[in-house]
Amino acid sequence: MIASPSTAHASQLFNVMGRTYVVTGAASGLGLAIAEVLAANGGRLLLLDRDEKGLKDLASRLQASVASQAVDVADADALRQAVDAFISETGRIDGLFANAGISGGAGFGTDAGMTSGQLESQDGNHWRGILDINLLGVLNSLQAVVPTMKRQHSGSIVVTASITGIQAEPFVSYSYAAAKAAVIQLMRQSALELSPYGVRVNAIAPGFIKTGIAGGRLHDAQVDGALSRKIPMGRLGAANEVQGIALLLASDAGSYITGSTLTVDGGALLGPSPFIHTQYTDTAR
Ligand SMILES: NC(=O)c1ccc[n+]([C@@H]2O[C@H](COP(=O)([O-])OP(=O)(O)OC[C@H]3O[C@@H](n4cnc5c(N)ncnc54)[C@H](O)[C@@H]3O)[C@@H](O)[C@H]2O)c1
Repeated sequence: MIASPSTAHASQLFNVMGRTYVVTGAASGLGLAIAEVLAANGGRLLLLDRDEKGLKDLASRLQASVASQAVDVADADALRQAVDAFISETGRIDGLFANAGISGGAGFGTDAGMTSGQLESQDGNHWRGILDINLLGVLNSLQAVVPTMKRQHSGSIVVTASITGIQAEPFVSYSYAAAKAAVIQLMRQSALELSPYGVRVNAIAPGFIKTGIAGGRLHDAQVDGALSRKIPMGRLGAANEVQGIALLLASDAGSYITGSTLTVDGGALLGPSPFIHTQYTDTAR
């Protein structure tokens, strides 16, 4: 897409009016923020989450064309049925945000005396539970939309990865970090395959964002303080800070972006800021 002066206007470039999107994990946090920005700009949505009440609350709050269904993304058949029903009603699907995910518990470097997050304590059953949702749940979501997108020769798929899939992070579990790294490579493989079909596939890799994840642990003042000191911008993110990138990727503004992992992390992947570190050690003394 080459922008003409009229299409270069933000209202055209980022236009999602009347377009159809599926958002998983829509009842809380990042998925809710993504649903809000798409709805606010006229998108037609299917919201999926296993939290039925949260979904109903959101759907009734959004002033938009919204369908919602309680679905576990680990259940490939239920997910496909929900997406198929949406597509048969709308006739097409313009985008998927495969966003649902859960924490894998604490890592190995955050809680004194905590051993369950260490390598020797890794448990296969726990891993299977995390991979079922955080990796296979994403695969199931992609598989539900891809046949239609291939037929249409258009579509934008966005998976929610994490900076912990790129850089080692003692605060999160092995299973979570490994699943997110796999999600990034699943995205890249799919982007390569689907590019000739005009289907774009990208990942958003958030840093630490205050949502409901891990039982809302990031809202805890001590956790917030400890993590904020590792972030060059000196603070955790808010859920609505992914809305801009979601709109970019959902719309024609992102028409030449595929196979990319876009970080939204306050600079966390840069490493700790020397200035924040100085402040920290000063206070700690
Ligand atoms: N918050 C962060 O700091 C952060 C950082 C990096 C990546 N992420 C990722 O962002 C995504 C969204 O998480 P969030 O932070 O908004 O957390 P959240 O807990 O606020 O929201 C997650 C939503 O997903 C739903 N969900 C969980 N498992 C599901 C399943 N099996 N089927 C259907 N729905 C399911 C939950 O009910 C919830 O509504 C996740 O993939 C998470 O790993 C979050």
